[in-house]
Amino acid sequence: MNLAVVILAAGSGTRMKSKIPKVLHPVAGKPMIKHVTENVLALEPQRTIVVVSKDADDVKRILGDSVEYAEQKEQLGTAHALGQAAPLLSDFNGDILVLNGDSPLIQSQSLEELVGHHRKSDAAATIVTTVLEDPFGYGRIIREDGKVVQVIEEKEASPEQKQIQEINSGIYCFKSKEVLEKLDLIDADNKKKEYYLTDIVSLLVEQKSLVETFEWAPEEMLGVNSRLELAQASLIIYQRNLSKWLDSGVSIVDPLNTYIESDVEIGTDCIIHPQTYLKGTTKVENGCEIGPCTQIMDSKIGADSRVSFSVVTEAKTGANCTIGPYSHLRSGTVLADGAKIGSFSEIKNSSIGKGSKVPHLSYMGDTDIAEDVNVGAGTISCNYDGSKKHKTTIKKGAFIGSDTMLVAPVTIGENAFTGAGSVVGHDVPDDSLAIERTEQKNIPGYSKKKKRKK
Ligand code: UD1
Ligand code: CA
Repeated sequence: MNLAVVILAAGSGTRMKSKIPKVLHPVAGKPMIKHVTENVLALEPQRTIVVVSKDADDVKRILGDSVEYAEQKEQLGTAHALGQAAPLLSDFNGDILVLNGDSPLIQSQSLEELVGHHRKSDAAATIVTTVLEDPFGYGRIIREDGKVVQVIEEKEASPEQKQIQEINSGIYCFKSKEVLEKLDLIDADNKKKEYYLTDIVSLLVEQKSLVETFEWAPEEMLGVNSRLELAQASLIIYQRNLSKWLDSGVSIVDPLNTYIESDVEIGTDCIIHPQTYLKGTTKVENGCEIGPCTQIMDSKIGADSRVSFSVVTEAKTGANCTIGPYSHLRSGTVLADGAKIGSFSEIKNSSIGKGSKVPHLSYMGDTDIAEDVNVGAGTISCNYDGSKKHKTTIKKGAFIGSDTMLVAPVTIGENAFTGAGSVVGHDVPDDSLAIERTEQKNIPGYSKKKKRKK
């Protein structure tokens, strides 16, 4: 049986009070609409169409050609929005799953169950419903003798109808042939002067077509219309991710203060301390201890490593590395096994060899460090001359004295040394010491002389 999916995402989302289209607001770090399309695409539908407004370049950029697009030039309501996808589906014969771009919590398994139920009951339309403690803002399900006969919007509802707690989720499954041609019969004769897709229900009922409902757990329905709902949706996704990792052998010390995004992977026997943010495509291998107060984004942390009080972005580490407290690994950082980056060290676009250490107060940018190198406290790779970046190379076994300024481009040879406080702008041969500082002069009795002058 054929399945097409239409995602309505052209609404302006005025209640968000934002310049950004509503469906691009991040929910647990990922644009809302991406949560929806990912869950939809898992069903492998024949067609997936996203209805977008006319300035939707950003939406198209983010979703790319994973979906098709229909443009709704004017936001005239949800029925009108679905109508914009209808020409694309003129040759389509099967079921159409319709959902809103602002419902990021729907899970693909639930969608599968909906389609299954719809097909089994052979209904013209199946509406997903739920019962909410506070149904405010949602369309209410009106039943007669147990059968759904109408969906009434909050704005149109009478005080008695507003008491109804069974709501329309905005998720539907339709028989394409029975519904697409009826969209033109819907008018905008209501308070919002909009073409309400929900009016399809009474239309179908009048024509004696079967309309079914299918109940879901309320959690999945949350439609994000405000910043409060955006925050609630994020928290629910974080909770789902935390449960998944707790079940798969990860210790999370304080699940209320830990934020793991959906595409993150974590190995077994990891311990995650509070105020840790694991973001993007981060992968943490087995046996790591992460946090507290750490943010890791789009990075790989090798097995049995320790990262605390640090920020790591687009970096890769080997096994048994130590990062932090208070380290900043920026994009292009690669640590080999057993490397150690310590307090207040920043590393960017650099590789740190096996067992090498940058333990205190240093900046390494565009620097390649081989194995068994020790970089003394306060060392800086002076990689930027104001217009270009230059490279520093530190070979195996070198010892960089504290407070060395490595003026790039520069190479420090194997087992070479630099003297503390040196400004090193010329290459240092293997096994040599480079020292660049004026000789120390001691003036005897200086303090007594000074007192006498006073
Ligand atoms: C809609 C339903 C309501 C349901 C609720 C569930 C209607 C009339 N009402 O109300 O019964 O309880 O969803 O969340 O359908 N959109 C367009 N073009 C438009 C208007 C809207 O693409 O012209 C899109 C929006 O981007 C959004 C979706 O349709 O993703 C729903 O629109 P929204 O305005 O949020 O509808 P609700 O008032 O929430
Ligand atoms: Ca909505």
